[in-house]
Amino acid sequence: MHTKQEILEKLTGIQSSRKSYYSELVYLIEEMKKKNKQLAVINQLTQIQINATWQQTTSYIAAQLSQILVFEHFALTIVKGSMLSSYLAKWNDGDWQCHTLTQTVSVDASVLTGQVHLTLAEVLPEHHPTSVPLRSQLNQTFGFLTLLRQTKQLVDRDEAELIQLVASHVGVVVENSLLFQDVNERIKIEAQLIQSAKMAAIGEMAAGIAHELNSPLTAILGNSQLLMREMTDAPEAPLIKDIYGCGVRCKKIIQNLLTFSRQEEYLFSTTSIDEVVEDVLGLIGYQLSVSGLTITREMSEPPLLFHGSRHQIEQIVINLLLNARDAVAGREPPHIVIRSFLVQEENSSYVGLSVYDNGTGICEEQLSQIFQPFFSTKERTKGTGLGLSVSLGIAEAHGGRLFAESVEGEYSKFTMLLPLVADEEDNDGEKTGFDRG
Ligand SMILES: Nc1ncnc2c1ncn2[C@@H]1O[C@H](COP(=O)(O)OP(=O)(O)OP(=O)(O)O)[C@@H](O)[C@H]1O
Ligand SMILES: [Mg+2]
Repeated sequence: MHTKQEILEKLTGIQSSRKSYYSELVYLIEEMKKKNKQLAVINQLTQIQINATWQQTTSYIAAQLSQILVFEHFALTIVKGSMLSSYLAKWNDGDWQCHTLTQTVSVDASVLTGQVHLTLAEVLPEHHPTSVPLRSQLNQTFGFLTLLRQTKQLVDRDEAELIQLVASHVGVVVENSLLFQDVNERIKIEAQLIQSAKMAAIGEMAAGIAHELNSPLTAILGNSQLLMREMTDAPEAPLIKDIYGCGVRCKKIIQNLLTFSRQEEYLFSTTSIDEVVEDVLGLIGYQLSVSGLTITREMSEPPLLFHGSRHQIEQIVINLLLNARDAVAGREPPHIVIRSFLVQEENSSYVGLSVYDNGTGICEEQLSQIFQPFFSTKERTKGTGLGLSVSLGIAEAHGGRLFAESVEGEYSKFTMLLPLVADEEDNDGEKTGFDRG
């Protein structure tokens, strides 16, 4: 038979004399309330939104933890490779406000806590940090929780256990967030890949359409040319001239599109830059000279050789010369200088070709845009804005470069560099080094 005392002890778990019984009961109830609160907070911590920013997550954890632990400030640190990002939540104006501190560190996990504390001490020198690591399922440290207190106080066993418990729960949530970010990143990369595949398909399609349009366009151009000759004085003559002009523009766009999508195949051979210039001037020299400009040629001796598509390199030179011609219109006296020279860099040598003109020049803002496709300052009927972007593409496909220098109102100089074919016999002439003159 149990006494009344024994029954009470069994029910409440309190072994005490009647005198201290009530105070022990009050204490026990308080402890249970505390534990309940802690469980409620830990439960709240598992509700962190997976797609929240680290700042939002940190402020949320700080707000929850402040209900069960005493601290002034709180920091969540995430370790990604050698990158340490600490999100520091400070209590300010009735809210937890978050600051981001980043640093790169050695990957040795044993010194990471020290690094985190050093970084935080720079911002909050008067505070004492207590940190617990966040560990993954594979027991790798991927972050820290840090409590910052103004007074140094010993962490008792209960509190240490509580912090560990919090860390294990927060760890799961943070690990999920990291995985979520990883997956999101991958989805984004995949979307980019799909987009570039689409662009490639569009490029191919454009090239196909360009090919298809070529034949009817030849008929339009040929027939309108015939009509133009026959009907010089007819009232319809300007209309036919317009048809022909628009046809020429379409042809130019198609040609550029074909080169841009690199659907046209060109044979590569070893060619001298002099021959290229010679051919180009044979092709458009007359067109240039009728506009009253003088062209000076300063070619390096012996001729410099490159390996590539003669046709494509000629196209670059044509583009540069036509641009120069447009730029010098109205200048007195209009002048273009074509120079070839040898460029020697640390591990490679280049054939250099520059086209200088004393034309309008290019302002600084436009200088950064001229190589973009469809950038043109010319009238719609005169320029497609593809000349330089196509030329740059060709130069880079040859392992070379194309760049511009200019002073607005004074001059422009475009320089093309192509890898030099090291032919001892042909290229043992004077080595001039990089020549920008
Ligand atoms: N030598 C130059 N002097 C001044 N501006 C130039 C020169 N070369 C190019 N530019 C500027 O760069 C722009 C782009 O040149 P790009 O050759 O790409 O196109 P475009 O000449 O306008 O048209 P097209 O496709 O017919 O060549 C030109 O519209 C012009 O504003
Ligand atoms: Mg052009």
